[in-house]
Amino acid sequence: MSQSTSRSQERPPSFVYQATKRAGQRGAEALHCDKLPASELARRFGTPLYVYSASMIRERVKAFEKAFHGFPHTICYAVKANSNLSILRLLARLGLGFDVVSGGELQRVLRANRAAARRVVFSGVGKTAAEINLALRSNILAFNVESAPELQLLGECARNLRKKARIALRVNPDVSAETHPYISTGLHQHKFGIPIQQARELYTLAAQEKSLKVASVSVHIGSQIRDIKPFREAMERVAELVRELRGEGHDIRYVDAGGGLGISYDQSDNDAFPDRVAAYAEALTAPLRDLKIHLLLEPGRSIVGPAGILLTRLIYKKTNGAKKFLIVDAAMNDLIRPSLYSAHHEIVPVQPDSSSAEKVDIVGPICETGDFFARDRQLQAVNEGDLLAILDAGAYGMVLASNYNTRPRAAEVLVDGAKAKIIRKRETLQDLLRAESL
Ligand code: LLP
Repeated sequence: MSQSTSRSQERPPSFVYQATKRAGQRGAEALHCDKLPASELARRFGTPLYVYSASMIRERVKAFEKAFHGFPHTICYAVKANSNLSILRLLARLGLGFDVVSGGELQRVLRANRAAARRVVFSGVGKTAAEINLALRSNILAFNVESAPELQLLGECARNLRKKARIALRVNPDVSAETHPYISTGLHQHKFGIPIQQARELYTLAAQEKSLKVASVSVHIGSQIRDIKPFREAMERVAELVRELRGEGHDIRYVDAGGGLGISYDQSDNDAFPDRVAAYAEALTAPLRDLKIHLLLEPGRSIVGPAGILLTRLIYKKTNGAKKFLIVDAAMNDLIRPSLYSAHHEIVPVQPDSSSAEKVDIVGPICETGDFFARDRQLQAVNEGDLLAILDAGAYGMVLASNYNTRPRAAEVLVDGAKAKIIRKRETLQDLLRAESL
């Protein structure tokens, strides 16, 4: 059995190798998404193609809900991880709320499920008056305020609309989390949040503004954090602050713990996920246990990351000296994580066989050396025209896609059991040129 086969067979319940049935006969093993062969999806919808599994998303939400069961909580899925309307609707139907960071993301939530607005928290360092007004009119759950001038603007906007805005200050707990420097946010040198000392003064100021309702403390220390300890440390600091603020008469009812729970990109995460999320839940809730608080959570990646793949077809094989390149039809404009964060994604053949592995670079057609998905990777020998699947591409994949090199963005498909639904059409050149003029 090839290395990739054994890995992927650890990936229940979706994206597994299964025998395809043809005319009642058992065929060769091939990668499936739920009940559908990946090759059939590629044939129907073309490549590059994002494929998501509804059942895996449901399963991961269930694991989250189970881990936090018994502690009052609301999961506010971080829309930025994957903002496709159908994904948002699926999550809204499971009762989730949303964490948005722009007016655009809020509009998406409203479009997917209007009633979910009351479970929306609005984060971000640069909210504009227009975005704030939209959120006020939509009666969202809370604003996570990140600076003194934002607090002032929010107060003014709410006053003008005769609304009372529920607020948290996003505090910067100054804890360090092992992750890529671009996505670590909880240290004092980062642009995010308000230092705890300053936050106390701002809470006092906020309490004097009649259009604001001090209700919450929020924190987010970064993304793709695999070690649970920094979450606990941050929560201990937040718990201390909640006690102090209550001591000063503030009615703090919520703690927003942010997102950031990492996934495993080099092996399947799904089996271990319930235990990991349980450990995470314990780290967050232990420091808050005696506070009678409602916990808000903002997971993104840990819900949708492993539930998506990017299907791509091999265009050319090429050898330059000692190096072998597989040039595929997806590129850094479709999935930028390897180029931008040196992120590792497993890449597996859709049709595994017994041919021996070779060391290859898997690259896209874009005119940059940085356009790669994997370097010096051992992969079963594949042929031009074969399909490959880039795994764990459900989060920060399509949302970060661009049109670099005038490449239309990929289509997205949501698979549920034996059904596949196109949830975003492949872009056309016309779409790309629409806003331009001569
Ligand atoms: N809440 C806030 C305030 C955030 O800034 C983020 C992510 C989240 C929640 C969700 O974090 P998650 O559970 O997904 O880790 N593009 C990068 C990740 C950027 C994360 C930004 N903030 C990547 O591809 O790794």
